[in-house]
Amino acid sequence: MARAGKSEPRRIIVGISGASGMPYGVRLLEALRRAGGHEVHLVMSEAAKLNVGIETDLKIKDVEKLADVVHSIRNISASIASGSFRTEGMIVAPCSMRTLSSIVHSNSENLLLRAADVVLKERRRLVVMPREAPLHTGHCKLMYEASLMGVIVFPPLPAFYNRPRSIDDLLDGTVGRVLDLFGIDSGLLRPWTGNTQLAEDE
Ligand SMILES: Cc1cc2nc3c(=O)[nH]c(=O)nc-3n(C[C@H](O)[C@H](O)[C@H](O)COP(=O)(O)O)c2cc1C
Repeated sequence: MARAGKSEPRRIIVGISGASGMPYGVRLLEALRRAGGHEVHLVMSEAAKLNVGIETDLKIKDVEKLADVVHSIRNISASIASGSFRTEGMIVAPCSMRTLSSIVHSNSENLLLRAADVVLKERRRLVVMPREAPLHTGHCKLMYEASLMGVIVFPPLPAFYNRPRSIDDLLDGTVGRVLDLFGIDSGLLRPWTGNTQLAEDE
């Protein structure tokens, strides 16, 4: 994983696009803030901003306040548009099929896409959380091609082995696993320690 220099802060980019799943993006920003240690750069698509009002009780400003630096999606000259601006990588949460398609095809028409393209070309870590259901073959091919390119494809698919009791539990389980991919201990994960049930039943 690429590391920022000693004199530079450790940086991570969060992209939020317009797929359903805004609470994942919000919880990710909250978890990064709580974990500390990273300068968090946020870029949201126009559709993501629309979804803030549709899927949460928050205002766009409330979401932006969770990041250290907020970039306009139109500012293609922002710091995160250049590989010389060192970051540890980027998480796109949630990732629409439109954004996934553009990433796979190196279409850098906005800052979120350019930042993702830079992360890929600099061989830094890119995690995307694509959400759509059901999936057609085109969606499946995009995820396959993204994976071939080194993107970590992490659909928001909650696990139930830790007995989640609330939506917050579901969000935390997924966000905790995503941050784990960057070596960030969010304190949200209860690691699986094995199942003794089968042995007890026998
Ligand atoms: C309420 C709402 C939910 C949506 N959910 C999804 C979704 O789950 N997956 C998806 O790929 N697109 C979804 N879309 C469509 C995208 O927002 C749309 O394709 C948009 O152009 C994506 O742009 P972006 O990738 O720049 O954010 C949704 C749109 C709305 C308004």
